Amino acid sequence: MAQDRPLNHDEMLAVLDWYRAAGVDIAVGEEPVDRFAQRPPARAVPALAAVASPAGERPAEAPMLGGDPAEARSLAASAQSLEQLQALLGAYDGCGLKLRATQLVFADGNPEADIMLIGEAPGAEEDRQGKPFVGKSGQLLDRMLAAIGLDRTRVYIANTVPWRPPGNRTPTPEEMALCLPFLHRQVELVAPRLVMTLGGPAMQTVFSTTAGIIKMRGKWSDVTIGNHAVEAIPTLHPAYLLRNPAAKQQAWADMLALKLKMVELGLG
Ligand code: URA
Repeated sequence: MAQDRPLNHDEMLAVLDWYRAAGVDIAVGEEPVDRFAQRPPARAVPALAAVASPAGERPAEAPMLGGDPAEARSLAASAQSLEQLQALLGAYDGCGLKLRATQLVFADGNPEADIMLIGEAPGAEEDRQGKPFVGKSGQLLDRMLAAIGLDRTRVYIANTVPWRPPGNRTPTPEEMALCLPFLHRQVELVAPRLVMTLGGPAMQTVFSTTAGIIKMRGKWSDVTIGNHAVEAIPTLHPAYLLRNPAAKQQAWADMLALKLKMVELGLG
Protein backbone atom coordinates (compact mmCIF):
# COMPACT_ATOMS: atom_id res chain seq x y z
CA MET A 1 0.00 0.00 0.00
CA ALA A 2 1.42 3.46 -0.91
CA GLN A 3 2.35 5.56 2.11
CA ASP A 4 2.61 9.33 2.09
CA ARG A 5 5.88 9.68 4.02
CA PRO A 6 9.57 10.08 3.09
CA LEU A 7 11.48 6.81 2.62
CA ASN A 8 13.69 5.75 5.49
CA HIS A 9 17.37 4.88 5.01
CA ASP A 10 16.83 1.14 4.41
CA GLU A 11 13.99 1.80 1.98
CA MET A 12 16.13 4.26 0.01
CA LEU A 13 18.91 1.68 -0.24
CA ALA A 14 16.36 -0.91 -1.40
CA VAL A 15 15.12 1.48 -4.11
CA LEU A 16 18.69 2.19 -5.25
CA ASP A 17 19.37 -1.56 -5.33
CA TRP A 18 16.26 -2.05 -7.43
CA TYR A 19 17.37 0.69 -9.85
CA ARG A 20 20.83 -0.88 -10.14
CA ALA A 21 19.32 -4.29 -10.89
CA ALA A 22 17.22 -2.65 -13.61
CA GLY A 23 20.34 -1.14 -15.17
CA VAL A 24 19.99 2.40 -13.80
CA ASP A 25 23.49 2.90 -12.45
CA ILE A 26 24.39 6.46 -13.38
CA ALA A 27 22.68 9.74 -12.45
CA VAL A 28 22.48 12.12 -15.38
CA GLY A 29 20.36 14.86 -13.80
CA GLU A 30 18.67 16.06 -10.63
CA GLU A 31 15.09 15.55 -11.87
CA PRO A 32 13.61 12.56 -13.76
CA VAL A 33 12.76 13.31 -17.40
CA ASP A 34 10.09 11.47 -19.40
CA ARG A 35 11.98 11.23 -22.71
CA PHE A 36 9.15 9.34 -24.39
CA ALA A 37 6.90 12.35 -23.80
CA GLN A 38 9.59 14.59 -25.34
CA ARG A 39 9.97 12.47 -28.49
CA PRO A 40 8.70 14.49 -31.48
CA PRO A 41 6.46 12.81 -34.10
CA ALA A 42 8.22 10.85 -36.86
CA ARG A 43 9.02 12.81 -39.98
CA ALA A 44 10.87 12.22 -43.22
CA VAL A 45 14.66 12.03 -43.32
CA PRO A 46 15.97 15.47 -44.29
CA ALA A 47 18.70 15.88 -46.89
CA LEU A 48 22.29 15.49 -45.69
CA ALA A 49 22.94 19.22 -45.96
CA ALA A 50 20.19 19.84 -43.42
CA VAL A 51 21.56 17.44 -40.82
CA ALA A 52 25.33 17.75 -41.08
CA SER A 53 26.86 21.16 -40.59
CA PRO A 54 30.38 21.64 -42.04
CA ALA A 55 31.73 21.95 -38.50
CA GLY A 56 30.18 18.61 -37.63
CA GLU A 57 27.95 20.13 -34.97
CA ARG A 58 24.63 18.63 -33.96
CA PRO A 59 21.91 20.32 -36.04
CA ALA A 60 18.65 21.48 -34.49
CA GLU A 61 16.52 19.23 -36.72
CA ALA A 62 17.08 15.54 -35.94
CA PRO A 63 15.84 12.89 -38.39
CA MET A 64 13.42 10.33 -36.93
CA LEU A 65 13.95 7.04 -38.68
CA GLY A 66 11.65 4.84 -36.63
CA GLY A 67 14.32 2.14 -36.34
CA ASP A 68 14.44 1.09 -40.01
CA PRO A 69 17.85 -0.45 -40.91
CA ALA A 70 17.36 0.41 -44.61
CA GLU A 71 17.00 4.08 -43.75
CA ALA A 72 19.97 3.86 -41.39
CA ARG A 73 21.97 2.41 -44.29
CA SER A 74 21.05 5.17 -46.70
CA LEU A 75 21.70 7.86 -44.09
CA ALA A 76 25.12 6.40 -43.21
CA ALA A 77 26.03 6.00 -46.89
CA SER A 78 25.37 9.69 -47.49
CA ALA A 79 28.22 10.75 -45.17
CA GLN A 80 31.23 11.95 -47.12
CA SER A 81 33.52 12.47 -44.13
CA LEU A 82 33.89 11.28 -40.54
CA GLU A 83 32.69 14.71 -39.37
CA GLN A 84 29.50 14.34 -41.39
CA LEU A 85 29.03 10.79 -40.16
CA GLN A 86 29.41 11.92 -36.55
CA ALA A 87 26.88 14.72 -37.08
CA LEU A 88 24.41 12.34 -38.75
CA LEU A 89 24.78 9.81 -35.98
CA GLY A 90 24.42 12.52 -33.34
CA ALA A 91 21.14 13.54 -34.96
CA TYR A 92 19.91 9.97 -35.52
CA ASP A 93 17.05 8.97 -33.24
CA GLY A 94 16.31 5.54 -34.74
CA CYS A 95 18.18 3.49 -32.14
CA GLY A 96 16.60 3.38 -28.67
CA LEU A 97 20.01 3.20 -26.95
CA LYS A 98 20.37 6.94 -27.51
CA LEU A 99 17.42 7.70 -25.25
CA ARG A 100 19.15 6.28 -22.18
CA ALA A 101 22.71 7.38 -22.93
CA THR A 102 24.29 10.65 -21.83
CA GLN A 103 25.96 11.31 -25.16
CA LEU A 104 27.29 9.86 -28.40
CA VAL A 105 30.62 8.01 -28.09
CA PHE A 106 31.87 8.22 -31.67
CA ALA A 107 35.60 7.49 -31.75
CA ASP A 108 39.04 8.24 -30.39
CA GLY A 109 42.52 8.14 -31.84
CA ASN A 110 43.85 9.03 -35.25
CA PRO A 111 41.43 8.93 -38.24
CA GLU A 112 44.48 8.56 -40.52
CA ALA A 113 45.72 5.48 -38.64
CA ASP A 114 46.50 2.18 -40.40
CA ILE A 115 45.06 0.21 -37.51
CA MET A 116 41.45 0.33 -36.33
CA LEU A 117 40.24 -1.23 -33.09
CA ILE A 118 36.56 -2.08 -32.71
CA GLY A 119 35.03 -2.68 -29.28
CA GLU A 120 31.52 -3.58 -28.23
CA ALA A 121 29.81 -0.61 -26.60
CA PRO A 122 30.64 2.33 -24.35
CA GLY A 123 30.55 1.78 -20.59
CA ALA A 124 29.78 4.25 -17.80
CA GLU A 125 33.03 6.23 -18.03
CA GLU A 126 32.88 6.37 -21.83
CA ASP A 127 29.27 7.60 -21.58
CA ARG A 128 30.43 10.37 -19.21
CA GLN A 129 33.44 11.46 -21.29
CA GLY A 130 32.10 10.81 -24.80
CA LYS A 131 35.18 8.77 -25.81
CA PRO A 132 35.65 5.01 -26.26
CA PHE A 133 37.82 2.98 -23.90
CA VAL A 134 38.59 5.58 -21.25
CA GLY A 135 37.55 3.52 -18.20
CA LYS A 136 39.43 0.65 -16.54
CA SER A 137 39.34 -1.58 -19.63
CA GLY A 138 40.57 1.37 -21.71
CA GLN A 139 43.54 1.78 -19.40
CA LEU A 140 44.40 -1.87 -19.89
CA LEU A 141 43.94 -1.46 -23.65
CA ASP A 142 46.42 1.44 -23.59
CA ARG A 143 48.95 -0.82 -21.82
CA MET A 144 48.37 -3.60 -24.36
CA LEU A 145 49.00 -1.14 -27.20
CA ALA A 146 52.09 0.29 -25.48
CA ALA A 147 53.52 -3.24 -25.18
CA ILE A 148 53.82 -3.33 -29.00
CA GLY A 149 54.87 0.29 -29.37
CA LEU A 150 51.45 1.76 -30.17
CA ASP A 151 49.38 4.51 -28.63
CA ARG A 152 46.22 6.40 -29.57
CA THR A 153 48.05 8.54 -32.11
CA ARG A 154 48.67 5.34 -34.15
CA VAL A 155 45.25 3.67 -33.90
CA TYR A 156 41.62 4.66 -34.43
CA ILE A 157 39.09 3.27 -31.93
CA ALA A 158 35.33 2.84 -32.30
CA ASN A 159 32.57 0.54 -31.04
CA THR A 160 29.87 -1.55 -32.69
CA VAL A 161 27.29 0.72 -31.05
CA PRO A 162 28.05 4.36 -30.14
CA TRP A 163 25.71 4.71 -27.14
CA ARG A 164 26.02 3.01 -23.77
CA PRO A 165 23.52 0.17 -23.29
CA PRO A 166 21.77 0.55 -19.90
CA GLY A 167 23.60 -1.32 -17.16
CA ASN A 168 26.34 -2.28 -19.68
CA ARG A 169 24.22 -5.06 -21.11
CA THR A 170 25.18 -6.51 -24.50
CA PRO A 171 23.44 -4.55 -27.30
CA THR A 172 20.47 -6.43 -28.77
CA PRO A 173 20.65 -7.71 -32.39
CA GLU A 174 18.13 -4.99 -33.35
CA GLU A 175 20.27 -2.24 -31.80
CA MET A 176 23.36 -3.67 -33.52
CA ALA A 177 21.53 -3.83 -36.87
CA LEU A 178 20.53 -0.16 -36.62
CA CYS A 179 24.06 0.98 -35.72
CA LEU A 180 25.94 -1.34 -38.09
CA PRO A 181 25.56 0.81 -41.23
CA PHE A 182 27.22 3.68 -39.35
CA LEU A 183 30.11 1.45 -38.24
CA HIS A 184 30.49 0.19 -41.81
CA ARG A 185 30.67 3.74 -43.14
CA GLN A 186 33.11 4.69 -40.37
CA VAL A 187 35.42 1.84 -41.45
CA GLU A 188 35.07 2.84 -45.12
CA LEU A 189 35.98 6.45 -44.32
CA VAL A 190 38.97 5.54 -42.10
CA ALA A 191 40.02 2.79 -44.55
CA PRO A 192 42.44 1.06 -42.13
CA ARG A 193 45.00 -1.50 -43.35
CA LEU A 194 44.36 -3.73 -40.31
CA VAL A 195 41.42 -4.21 -37.93
CA MET A 196 41.48 -5.75 -34.46
CA THR A 197 38.16 -6.54 -32.78
CA LEU A 198 37.91 -6.63 -28.99
CA GLY A 199 35.68 -9.30 -27.44
CA GLY A 200 33.04 -11.73 -28.70
CA PRO A 201 30.17 -9.39 -29.71
CA ALA A 202 32.47 -7.08 -31.74
CA MET A 203 34.04 -10.12 -33.43
CA GLN A 204 30.65 -11.63 -34.27
CA THR A 205 29.46 -8.33 -35.72
CA VAL A 206 32.54 -7.60 -37.81
CA PHE A 207 33.19 -11.18 -38.97
CA SER A 208 29.45 -11.94 -39.44
CA THR A 209 29.79 -15.13 -37.46
CA THR A 210 28.16 -16.85 -34.53
CA ALA A 211 31.44 -18.61 -33.61
CA GLY A 212 32.89 -18.08 -30.14
CA ILE A 213 35.77 -15.72 -29.41
CA ILE A 214 37.93 -18.45 -27.83
CA LYS A 215 37.91 -20.38 -31.11
CA MET A 216 38.37 -17.35 -33.39
CA ARG A 217 40.85 -15.17 -31.48
CA GLY A 218 44.36 -14.72 -32.78
CA LYS A 219 43.60 -15.72 -36.39
CA TRP A 220 43.78 -13.33 -39.31
CA SER A 221 40.94 -13.31 -41.86
CA ASP A 222 40.18 -11.26 -44.95
CA VAL A 223 36.90 -9.50 -44.27
CA THR A 224 34.88 -6.85 -46.04
CA ILE A 225 33.44 -4.25 -43.71
CA GLY A 226 30.92 -2.11 -45.59
CA ASN A 227 32.80 -2.05 -48.88
CA HIS A 228 36.28 -1.91 -47.36
CA ALA A 229 38.32 -5.10 -47.72
CA VAL A 230 40.77 -5.50 -44.86
CA GLU A 231 42.69 -8.06 -42.83
CA ALA A 232 41.21 -8.47 -39.36
CA ILE A 233 42.08 -10.33 -36.19
CA PRO A 234 39.90 -10.82 -33.09
CA THR A 235 41.28 -10.69 -29.57
CA LEU A 236 39.82 -10.92 -26.08
CA HIS A 237 38.09 -7.91 -24.56
CA PRO A 238 40.18 -5.99 -21.99
CA ALA A 239 37.24 -6.15 -19.54
CA TYR A 240 37.38 -9.96 -19.82
CA LEU A 241 41.12 -9.84 -19.18
CA LEU A 242 40.55 -7.77 -16.04
CA ARG A 243 38.22 -10.50 -14.76
CA ASN A 244 40.41 -13.38 -16.02
CA PRO A 245 44.06 -12.31 -15.74
CA ALA A 246 45.26 -15.77 -16.81
CA ALA A 247 43.87 -15.05 -20.30
CA LYS A 248 46.33 -12.16 -20.73
CA GLN A 249 48.77 -14.72 -22.12
CA GLN A 250 46.46 -15.30 -25.11
CA ALA A 251 45.85 -11.59 -25.57
CA TRP A 252 49.61 -11.03 -25.57
CA ALA A 253 49.98 -13.60 -28.36
CA ASP A 254 47.30 -11.70 -30.32
CA MET A 255 49.10 -8.39 -29.80
CA LEU A 256 52.32 -9.99 -31.06
CA ALA A 257 50.43 -11.26 -34.12
CA LEU A 258 49.32 -7.68 -34.76
CA LYS A 259 52.88 -6.39 -34.39
CA LEU A 260 54.21 -9.08 -36.74
CA LYS A 261 51.60 -8.22 -39.38
CA MET A 262 52.49 -4.53 -39.06
CA VAL A 263 56.16 -5.33 -39.66
CA GLU A 264 55.23 -7.55 -42.65
CA LEU A 265 53.24 -4.70 -44.19
CA GLY A 266 55.90 -2.11 -43.42
CA LEU A 267 53.69 -0.32 -40.90
CA GLY A 268 56.37 -0.32 -38.22
N1 URA B 1 34.14 -1.57 -23.66
C1 URA B 1 33.93 -1.44 -24.98
O1 URA B 1 33.69 -2.42 -25.69
N2 URA B 1 34.02 -0.21 -25.50
C2 URA B 1 34.30 0.86 -24.78
O2 URA B 1 34.37 1.95 -25.34
C3 URA B 1 34.53 0.70 -23.40
C4 URA B 1 34.44 -0.52 -22.86
